[in-house]
Amino acid sequence: MASRAEVRRQVLGCRRCSLHAQCSRPVPFHSSGKVVIVGEAPGETEDRLGQPFVGKSGQLLRKVVDEVGIGSTKVGYMNAVSCAPHRTPTPDEVEACRPNLDAQLAVLQPSYVVLVGQVALRAFRPDLRIAWMHGRPMERDLGWGNIILWTVYHPAAALRNKAMEEALWRDFFALTYHMVHNSWPQTCCVCKGEQWVWDGDGVVWCQKHSPEQGQGRLEMEVETVR
Ligand code: URA
Repeated sequence: MASRAEVRRQVLGCRRCSLHAQCSRPVPFHSSGKVVIVGEAPGETEDRLGQPFVGKSGQLLRKVVDEVGIGSTKVGYMNAVSCAPHRTPTPDEVEACRPNLDAQLAVLQPSYVVLVGQVALRAFRPDLRIAWMHGRPMERDLGWGNIILWTVYHPAAALRNKAMEEALWRDFFALTYHMVHNSWPQTCCVCKGEQWVWDGDGVVWCQKHSPEQGQGRLEMEVETVR
């Protein structure tokens, strides 16, 4: 099997599509862990700094990851397309970059792959829409055992849309719960409903049972996942 350094070199030297000619450099994976987060493609800041998810949307994503308890040291970051396209990548570009994505995942061998946004979802399931798939687990054997593919809204969309931001927090919260308990969350402790709302402080409440009543908090111990 290729080493991490070899895979990094593969990505940095990639010429499979024309994007390499217009970006500063391809951006390979950064860090690793039980969770690997797959984004769309590097943005302007990532293109400049050579690291995934370090711009504005990346900062929101890393904040969510930290606050739900996964912890930044347990997470790897990469993109479905490694070169900054300065626009949404085309399906052909996603397809051309697929060997890079596969090689990076294979060398890191995570247990959870979080697909961030429609483009990352398209790399695995071009037939599915994110509005339907976010927060729904898929099991896949990618070659090193069964893993969970977990889809969330892109943080760039969450920065523009409050409902999507709430869904992003909720979906990461549920993922953390699964990492700790190996089951999906039980939802509200009063009604068992699934109408969650994020209160802005990283606490998730049931919409029917308000925080004022001291009820409706999710039955979920958030632990740091080791
Ligand atoms: N958006 C992405 O999808 N990936 C990045 O690395 C940065 C922004």
